[in-house]
Amino acid sequence: MRRYNQGGEEIRTIEVAPSLSIALLPVERADIVPAFFRDDPERDENAFQPFLTRAEASEGRGKTAPAAYRAWLSGRMAAKAAAALLWGGPPGDQEIRKNSEGRPDLYRPGLTAGPERPRGWLSISHTRGAAAAVVSRREPVGVDLERADRPVKASMARWAFTGPERRLAEEFSDAGGYLALWCAREAAAKCWGRALLNHLDSVRAARVDRERGLVVVDWLGPPTARAEAEIMVYDEFMLALAFPAEAPAGKIRAEIWPHE
Ligand SMILES: CC(C)(COP(=O)(O)OP(=O)(O)OC[C@H]1O[C@@H](n2cnc3c(N)ncnc32)[C@H](O)[C@@H]1OP(=O)(O)O)[C@@H](O)C(=O)NCCC(=O)NCCS
Repeated sequence: MRRYNQGGEEIRTIEVAPSLSIALLPVERADIVPAFFRDDPERDENAFQPFLTRAEASEGRGKTAPAAYRAWLSGRMAAKAAAALLWGGPPGDQEIRKNSEGRPDLYRPGLTAGPERPRGWLSISHTRGAAAAVVSRREPVGVDLERADRPVKASMARWAFTGPERRLAEEFSDAGGYLALWCAREAAAKCWGRALLNHLDSVRAARVDRERGLVVVDWLGPPTARAEAEIMVYDEFMLALAFPAEAPAGKIRAEIWPHE
């Protein structure tokens, strides 16, 4: 897995709007903007409001736990900043709506879903103190962000991973291998429009490519699909970015490519 630090040469920081600054994580693909947003607990919650559409503000009011609301807001900030960088226009110019499985999609605000198609692909992840979002023009993406020191207990590893996956985790890295595999599976699931916890047995890490710092993840189907998840560590966070390694077929294709 590759490691980066804030202020390091590979990481660009951009002020997308006053009080909205994001770090651009390095990816080798064109047409993709991966944004990392570090929340400042001192920041007044009202600072987020200009970036929300009316429908989003109403969705946010449904979050009753303050920490969950703050994380949700951070995710919106990262997503809107990334979308503004990819397509231009102010960060408030996009509306994020969830589909029936919970996948976030980007729309133009004010228009009802109806026949309108989502714009590109979006994935969001948040953890305590930060959020990451990735937008992509041409293909689905998935992201997962965790604190890199998050422990994965032996009981959790036995519950979440098969025997072969446990061996892969140890092969990937002696420290953080389980977390890396978890992030990879979560990001891959999101790139297929799925929440991992609902499909734990269908989303499996198949192979580790240490040289490229990635995990190959399979959707066991039917029909089957494959994704590659790049793992990076940025300051105190671990992040996986997943892309389809092959075009899925059938129902899953229709679900993740409604944009066609
Ligand atoms: C729903 C799930 C995706 C949430 O994952 P999470 O790690 O808690 O949270 P994340 O911040 O990474 O992801 C949440 C985001 O996933 C996205 N998401 C939810 N359902 C999705 C789906 N079907 N397809 C794509 N993305 C989806 C949403 O954008 C959501 O953020 P939002 O509500 O602000 O829009 C689910 O897989 C889950 O609950 N995972 C358990 C996490 C866990 O136990 N981790 C242990 C680590 S060792």
